Amino acid sequence: MSIRIMGTGSCLPENVVTNDFLSTIMDTSDEWISSRTGIRERRLVKEETTASMSAEAAKRALTDAGIQAEDIDLIIVGTLSGDYVTPSTACEVQAAIGAVNAVAFDINAACSGFMYGVSMAYAYMKCGMYKNALVIGAETLSKVMDWNDRSTCVLFGDGAGAAVLALSEDEKSLGIIELEQGADGSKGMVLAGRDRMNNNPLVTNPKEPGYVQMDGQEVYKFAVTTVPESINRVLDKAQLKVEDIKYFLLHQANIRIIQSVSKRLKVPMESFPISLDHCGNVSAASVPILLDEVNKKGMLQKGDKIVMSGFGGGLTWGTCVLEW
Ligand code: ACO
Repeated sequence: MSIRIMGTGSCLPENVVTNDFLSTIMDTSDEWISSRTGIRERRLVKEETTASMSAEAAKRALTDAGIQAEDIDLIIVGTLSGDYVTPSTACEVQAAIGAVNAVAFDINAACSGFMYGVSMAYAYMKCGMYKNALVIGAETLSKVMDWNDRSTCVLFGDGAGAAVLALSEDEKSLGIIELEQGADGSKGMVLAGRDRMNNNPLVTNPKEPGYVQMDGQEVYKFAVTTVPESINRVLDKAQLKVEDIKYFLLHQANIRIIQSVSKRLKVPMESFPISLDHCGNVSAASVPILLDEVNKKGMLQKGDKIVMSGFGGGLTWGTCVLEW
């Protein structure tokens, strides 16, 4: 029995926001943003919500997998920007798609949320508790950005991506081969966003809720060292080499991070598909949106091995190698 990704789906908001548009509302330029990050445009919500995009991505993944919503027994949503504190986005998805037999909950591992979700679903399935899981990464980051801070708000976008994982008897695919997750909470404040303020009667000077703040250079240093190390560890455990891997699907934070990982692994950039040019950084949704794009373009054949790696706030990271 293997644990395979049987189908993928994604959903982006309708509204495209280009760098040129941003330069009409703040002191920035297409040249500054695209040369430093590779981002040319992103999608931002008007009517869509984290749950509505998640549900649409989930429906598309179920159709791709040929699995009915009633057959899903686990829904995990990686997000830091759900619509409510409760109910969770996963419970909203469960109701919207009619996955009446599913356990549903959210996890917050920031940009690694989808990868953490894949690991959790894998562990549940490996120990025999569940057979079919929906793992979703979804964000409405535009609501947690400070739109007066040009150094952060230009980097991020909104969207959702989903994958259906299932136990499979297909002997032609190993499915998920190896994975790991990690965290370094001691560096958490290099990428931080305060959410709610405590205003109970004991608190005399409640702090205002804040927006995402980032030390970009520290995040860069973390990413370019941790991601290749994590990929190498996972490949070692799987007894595979970088040459065995068709594509490396990395969290889409910044083209310069991906170029640096490509150099450190000595793998050409052609093996690193990119979506950040048209999506921006969509945190937990980055990897599953990219996976869906690669899948829907027909770039994956059965037997291809791919690596997925997410990294970001926490600080956290998660990497997985699988056979398609
Ligand atoms: N438009 C124009 N100018 C800008 C903008 C903008 N949008 N933002 C900042 N600037 C200015 C700054 O004010 C500063 O001006 P000054 O020199 O006059 O003070 C100058 O540009 C340089 O600012 P820095 O913040 O030092 O910019 P830096 O060159 O470090 O680039 C960046 C910022 C692209 C984010 C970089 O730090 C980086 O590549 N970081 C990697 C991490 C990353 O991409 N994080 C994103 C999300 S985190 C994640 O998903 C894990």
